[in-house]
Amino acid sequence: MKRSKIAGMGFYVPERVVKNEELTRLMDTSDEWIRERTGIEERRYGRKHEETTSTMAAIATRIACERAGIEPEEIDFIVFATLSPDYYFPGCGVLVQRELGITHREAGALDIRNQCSGFVYGLSIADQFVRTGMYKNVLVVGSEMHSMGLDFSTRGRNVTVIFGDGAGAAIVQPSEDPERGILTTRLHSDGTYAEKLSFINPGCHGGYHRNRLDEPVDYGYPPADTYGEIFITPKMLQDGLYYPYMDGQFVFKLAVQKFPEVILEALQDAGLQPSDINLLVPHQANLRISQFVQKRLGLRDDQVWNNIQRYGNTTAASIPIALCEAWEAGKVREGDLVCLAAFGSGFTWASALIRW
Ligand code: UT7
Repeated sequence: MKRSKIAGMGFYVPERVVKNEELTRLMDTSDEWIRERTGIEERRYGRKHEETTSTMAAIATRIACERAGIEPEEIDFIVFATLSPDYYFPGCGVLVQRELGITHREAGALDIRNQCSGFVYGLSIADQFVRTGMYKNVLVVGSEMHSMGLDFSTRGRNVTVIFGDGAGAAIVQPSEDPERGILTTRLHSDGTYAEKLSFINPGCHGGYHRNRLDEPVDYGYPPADTYGEIFITPKMLQDGLYYPYMDGQFVFKLAVQKFPEVILEALQDAGLQPSDINLLVPHQANLRISQFVQKRLGLRDDQVWNNIQRYGNTTAASIPIALCEAWEAGKVREGDLVCLAAFGSGFTWASALIRW
């Protein structure tokens, strides 16, 4: 079976730069706190009502297609990863397809909801499709428009200061060289702590899982025998219960454990060592997490790509943005061993090893 490879990449971040200082005017936070705890100095926010998750994805995809030497029309299959879709449904896969003018009926689109590990999961899906010969040009795209759904009051500061907008895309094709391409992908999940990093409203849960949250929450649902149940109740709006939630310390502790674990697993699978890695591109969750992982694996600074300082955490877009940026900077050369790794909400975590 042929291997698959990343034939071209592209990324897009909105023009508007939002420095930490700007956030201090909206909530009780400081540049010092954000830098010290996360490493973030600035992030990008999209143009509201003009840019969306799917329009940003389309820009990144066009660049990826050009670099892969194909027209968007030649894309056979789309894998779209996001937690901030344009619509509740349909998913962004078909929206980016429309945006790109892919009108032939052979194309298919799949939306995946794996948050921070969405891109690596998507890459693994593309890898399976290409290796089996089912598709020749698979688009894997991660895109997020976080700025439309964050709580900009002090109540939401532990989450809001971290996230930024952007998109990254890769075209996955068959590799002609049996030694090069995606060597392995490892995917994991555990729903035990699903609510520890979550965005649960709107949803049909009706409060069912509420005992799983640290503090039971009253969502203001009408009595259970009422028909025409609504996803968003007036109480949710009043109490701001439609924002993301994160138990930061809990997530941090698991992240620093799972990142090295899943990287070592992939290396073992391929019969390689941490020292063989030319470039590690971790999901940009927190600079402190990346530094911890780097130290644990014994990697030098030049073996790890970090850009959270400039873009914040862009969830499903963070790995393709970072990988593409590293490639543009000449940090990914032919024959290099590149490792991608992610951990996030679900919890889900994943890694990929690529011989470039
Ligand atoms: O990408 C998906 C995966 N996500 C992650 O991996 C994120 C993992 N977690 C983290 O990165 C960190 O836990 C955070 C950056 C989210 C938070 O850092 P922390 O060092 O764990 O802070 P904390 O949540 O323990 O909060 C410490 C203090 C609290 O005040 P008190 O209770 O000590 O008085 C918070 O209220 O910092 C306060 N705080 C803030 N202060 C200023 C929380 N957010 C802010 C803020 N500005 N933005």
